[in-house]
Amino acid sequence: MKSRTATLIHLLLFWLILAGLPSFAAAAEETVCLQCHGGQPGPLGAPVPLWRESVHQANGVSCQHCHGGDPTDFAMAMSPERGFIGVPAADDIPAFCGRCHVGVLDDYLASAHGQALGAGGPQCVTCHGNHRITRATLDLINPQDCSRCHEYGRADELRQAVSGTDALIIGLERDLAELHRLGLDTERLSGTVFSLRNEFHRLFHSVDVEKVRFKTGVFAQDLGKIEEEIAAIRSDLGQRKLWGGVIMALLVLAGLCSLLIHKSYKEEAGGD
Ligand code: HEC
Ligand code: HEC
Ligand code: HEC
Ligand code: HEC
Ligand code: HEC
Repeated sequence: MKSRTATLIHLLLFWLILAGLPSFAAAAEETVCLQCHGGQPGPLGAPVPLWRESVHQANGVSCQHCHGGDPTDFAMAMSPERGFIGVPAADDIPAFCGRCHVGVLDDYLASAHGQALGAGGPQCVTCHGNHRITRATLDLINPQDCSRCHEYGRADELRQAVSGTDALIIGLERDLAELHRLGLDTERLSGTVFSLRNEFHRLFHSVDVEKVRFKTGVFAQDLGKIEEEIAAIRSDLGQRKLWGGVIMALLVLAGLCSLLIHKSYKEEAGGD
């Protein structure tokens, strides 16, 4: 009963959020940055359609969150007094993105790539792009992008080291989504997987194969525990289904019996 109420509340919240979405989208549409830049030709207008396909757009991170400025005032939008910081120089990009991605910045700065910043090393935009940034996947590690500055061998070694755990995480996400569809409360487990996923994807930025291999062991333990919990939920579900079936069968049987008894009693009574 309790869980049904919880489900109803979830549904209600879901609809409330859905109903709220268009107004958020409208609010994002209305910034003067989007209105003015959207109509500009060439490189001034180009960021707008690219950004629309980005993970940042999907999470409400808009022009002013990266570049600063006042998104409500046409005349003063790009005034430094309103916090406009403009376009960062290449070497300043890690700090620019790292205002929000603090953990990634730390791992990056400590890495061979971060150490080579300003001396031929890649920075965030080299690998992720600038305006059409999408969810990070292992596809970012590929021969075209990773052999521009050095041979692909070391990059590939890193990819191999990361890929096992990556597949494990994707599998768990799929399992949890399935349990969620069956109406189970998977919030806590999904939250744990989500933060492990982020922590693990961050690890790449150390570009340190030894470190990745060592940490992979630690992650495997944590993820293994979640795997066990999911297996337990599954077998519990199976048991419940089994007992549900047994009880249904017993009920049907009881119904039949009472019908027969009733009938034969009536026949006996009628026979008198
Ligand atoms: C009324 C039109 C208009 C509005 C509103 C506007 N921009 Fe611009 N923006 C421009 C023009 C024109 C340029 C190029 C000339 C210049 O730099 O002033 C530009 C340049 C830029 C640049 C590149 C600057 C550089 O140093 O190369 C960025 C980044 C930028 N705008 C971001 C924003 C953001 C963020 C907002 C909202 C807070 C915004 N703009 C609002 C018209 C606009
Ligand atoms: C996730 C952060 C981020 C967001 C969001 C973002 N930008 Fe940028 N933008 C950058 C970075 C970083 C650069 C520098 C790119 C480079 O050096 O490759 C840049 C460069 C620019 C430039 C200079 C021209 C160019 O393409 O290099 C303009 C103009 C600009 N952005 C406008 C915008 C507008 C308009 C929006 C909103 C639709 C926006 N940006 C959203 C990070 C962002
Ligand atoms: C050499 C290429 C490269 C550079 C440089 C780089 N990244 Fe990444 N980034 C990746 C790859 C590859 C992944 C995905 C790793 C995986 O799937 O395990 C990733 C994952 C991420 C993620 C997702 C992980 C999480 O915590 O959610 C974020 C955010 C991110 N990068 C931001 C940045 C920022 C900010 C910078 C600059 C400080 C940066 N990256 C520099 C290649 C790069
Ligand atoms: C104003 C804060 C902010 C800034 C600045 C910012 N981001 Fe993000 N970024 C976010 C948020 C919020 C998300 C979506 C939530 C999440 O997945 O972490 C995100 C998501 C991402 C992801 C996908 C993460 C994943 O889980 O796969 C990448 C990659 C990324 N950002 C890279 C960058 C890069 C590169 C820059 C600089 C050009 C940058 N971000 C600047 C806030 C920011
Ligand atoms: C813009 C140039 C550039 C690009 C692009 C680049 N790297 Fe690097 N990479 C460097 C530099 C510079 C170093 C440090 C000097 C060295 O070891 O060669 C380095 C070092 C490395 C190392 C060795 C780290 C260590 O501690 O020994 C690995 C692994 C690596 N990169 C992986 C990658 C991967 C994976 C990609 C693609 C996602 C990539 N690199 C893309 C420039 C680049």
